[in-house]
Amino acid sequence: MKIEPTGAILGARVTDVDLREPLSRHDFGRVLLGLADHGVLCFSGQQIDAAQLKAFSGRFGTLQSLSVLPHEQGMPEVSILSNIVENGKLIGIPDAGQDWHTDMTYNEIPGFVNVLMAYAVPMRDGKPLGGTEFTNTRAAYDGLPADIKARLADATAQHEFAKFSDMMRIKKGSTRPPIPESVRRARPPVHHPVFLTHPISGKKVLYVNPGFVESIDGLPAAESAETLEYLYQHALQDKYRYVHRWSVGDLLLWDHIGTWHNAHADYGPTEHRLIKRCQVTADFIMNPAFVREALAA
Ligand SMILES: [Fe+2]
Repeated sequence: MKIEPTGAILGARVTDVDLREPLSRHDFGRVLLGLADHGVLCFSGQQIDAAQLKAFSGRFGTLQSLSVLPHEQGMPEVSILSNIVENGKLIGIPDAGQDWHTDMTYNEIPGFVNVLMAYAVPMRDGKPLGGTEFTNTRAAYDGLPADIKARLADATAQHEFAKFSDMMRIKKGSTRPPIPESVRRARPPVHHPVFLTHPISGKKVLYVNPGFVESIDGLPAAESAETLEYLYQHALQDKYRYVHRWSVGDLLLWDHIGTWHNAHADYGPTEHRLIKRCQVTADFIMNPAFVREALAA
């Protein structure tokens, strides 16, 4: 297995590996290190089905199971992201992730990685559409002025489950249903450090994101909003950003802790996209013994 960095602020291409077979323990450790170093790993030319995608993803942590979303038959852990209509019905979520966010930070144990496998990629004039853009939150932390790092060194922020969906619903043409009150009540806000230490690299990352963070704890509302806006503008500078342009057969594995992402909504309803996704929680990776053993293999 070869891991070749893109040379950009994020990203590496992984080749000479067939994900229909389980990764060796040694290669799994290299992939974990690759995630911490490069944030976004593209395994190109893969030919795996949903069950193989689920098995590969399950090595990294417990899979989020979302039976309310369109998913692979009998596998609520494998969501379908698609704008394809069959028999008058969308087969997947058509607008997943179309703004800046990090998955699952609204959970006490947040997200670790996403694993997306591309089966259809919209094309126009020979160019792929529906790219996934990332920003590097470790580089963004490193680039913050020392006084901001010191002022927010011990700060925490409040993350809310419904925030992203509520923001998407007010966008033009959104067909998202509202999140019911009962679901909101069952998902109380959680709190995470504004600067989190990455469990693999031990380096600090900026761990607030525009998708789910409501406020910085303990600050007056206006100061919290102003500080978050400053941090977001800082992290979204071009120098921290990287776009993955999809090809069929790409399996994209990315580290949520060291990145935010945003799915480009630049294709139309007749330009078909089909991606299958597993979302992996950070339960294994928050256990130092798991990381130690994986990196030693
Ligand atoms: Fe996402």
